[in-house]
Amino acid sequence: MVYDPKDYFYRKAKEENFAARSVFKIQEIDIRLKIFKPGMKVLDLGAAPGSWSQYASQKIGTHGKVLGIDIQAIKITLPNALFLTADMRELDLGTTMERHGIKPPFDIVLSDMAPKTTGYRLQDQMRSLELCELALTTAERFLRRDGVFVCKLFHSDEFENFRNLLRAKFSKIDLIKPKSTRSESKEIFFIARGFKGGAKTESALPDSSASEV
Ligand SMILES: C[S@@+](CC[C@H](N)C(=O)[O-])C[C@H]1O[C@@H](n2cnc3c(N)ncnc32)[C@H](O)[C@@H]1O
Repeated sequence: MVYDPKDYFYRKAKEENFAARSVFKIQEIDIRLKIFKPGMKVLDLGAAPGSWSQYASQKIGTHGKVLGIDIQAIKITLPNALFLTADMRELDLGTTMERHGIKPPFDIVLSDMAPKTTGYRLQDQMRSLELCELALTTAERFLRRDGVFVCKLFHSDEFENFRNLLRAKFSKIDLIKPKSTRSESKEIFFIARGFKGGAKTESALPDSSASEV
């Protein structure tokens, strides 16, 4: 199929005022698995230009909070979100959250992080896996017990190993290749529910003590 940068999903995203066509991936995941609820706290890794955060922000409502992080600056603003520009490979997230008055744990950790593709398949797959491992380590630190982790991976031979890693830490793993994923893309989304670690919290209740996010 010919690559069309302004395809149906691109145009639909524009019409609906979303920052990117990627929004339809998280929307499909949510329609199928119903992961967002009002009042939730969401950590969005690789959030630029911001469409997943926009979707999450609408679903969690005014009592919910989104923290979005990306190497690239996120230009949109949302009433219940804070965006930080940082490289997740270098960021001391615990200290940064403290500085901004953000209190973990989160109900959901999302990672749509993707490396800049080089065209060298193995290299791109390896860098995608590294970002997934980084997202998982982050989720293990900041996700609440029974929380949800969503992560994009470029399919590779390491796929089964990563799935087994998730199986050890979550009670239910689903795999979704959303309809809006371009046909030439090898990306796949893991949706891991029922985090076995983390602290027990009053799930999805607004944290009135947090001053930001
Ligand atoms: C596919 S885009 C995310 C799209 C986003 N979910 C949306 O809906 O607008 C992938 C993002 O991952 C970010 N990214 C890649 N490596 C990163 C890293 N080490 N730290 C933070 N962000 C990273 C890229 O800058 C890019 O914006």
